[in-house]
Amino acid sequence: MLSYRHAFHAGNFADVLKHSVLSLVLDYMTRKEKGFCYIDSHSGAGMYQLADAYAQKTGEYKDGIAKIINDEDAPESLEPYLSLIKSLNLSHDKSSELEVYPGSPGIAKAFVRRQDSSHLFELHPTDIQHLEDFCQRWRKVFVKQSDGYKGVLGLLPPPSRRGVVLIDPPYELKEDYQKAVKTIIKAYSKFSTGTYILWYPVVKRELVEEMQQAFKASAVKNVLQVEFCMAADTDEYGMTGTGLFIVNPPWQLTTQLEEILPYMKTKLGSNETSYTLTQLIAE
Ligand SMILES: C[S@@+](CC[C@H](N)C(=O)[O-])C[C@H]1O[C@@H](n2cnc3c(N)ncnc32)[C@H](O)[C@@H]1O
Repeated sequence: MLSYRHAFHAGNFADVLKHSVLSLVLDYMTRKEKGFCYIDSHSGAGMYQLADAYAQKTGEYKDGIAKIINDEDAPESLEPYLSLIKSLNLSHDKSSELEVYPGSPGIAKAFVRRQDSSHLFELHPTDIQHLEDFCQRWRKVFVKQSDGYKGVLGLLPPPSRRGVVLIDPPYELKEDYQKAVKTIIKAYSKFSTGTYILWYPVVKRELVEEMQQAFKASAVKNVLQVEFCMAADTDEYGMTGTGLFIVNPPWQLTTQLEEILPYMKTKLGSNETSYTLTQLIAE
């Protein structure tokens, strides 16, 4: 089943959290000269045109990135992310609409250096075309139209022994919740010092709890969990919140998220909005 298209959701509140964390992690990785490997299991198209029919149909970015891009009081921790979005929209002024929004490969491309390599997996026949076009003038990038769960495991450990893995499935299938955690558990057994970022939607609370239990029952150490919920959990259909499990986060990430989460609540949320930041598994 490949009906999910990230173009509908690009720049929404979930992307703001996911991509600001990804930016902070990649920014941290570039502080050491030694190269690293970036692996994106579910890459999407790479870059999204916000004027196109997909983004305009839902208008989700208007309740996400558009609400903060011009804010002069945004916290310092959002700077790597916000300055990147601004640089991609150079003609953007406060009165005009944002034109483009990067997917995770677009975020990664802005941070990686000559000594770093990137491996991007995507299955959708249209998005893989967009992704290949997006990657054309990018050195040391390897794009594959194949299963990202298997792809991640085949690349670990990276020769540099430094790596960031983003696992960002569409969750069209219920199995994705457990499959994503199992992939990280297996990946960790091959490469325990890598940083892993796993995105999830809050649709049914039990599914998130099952992911937490699977992590706790595993050998994986040092797991930070962050969650930002626009509204309270409900039995009705639909995503009320978003979260990330981050294995081996950079040491400042907790402090940075302590700054970002209340800001996101003020700018993007309402009275119903809540967030949590938990060290799910100790170092
Ligand atoms: C949530 S989107 C990715 C968004 C992207 N990571 C970002 O942050 O911009 C999930 C993507 O995974 C793709 N996909 C679904 N199953 C896959 C699989 N087994 N392996 C690789 N890609 C897959 C979908 O086509 C979709 O484009």
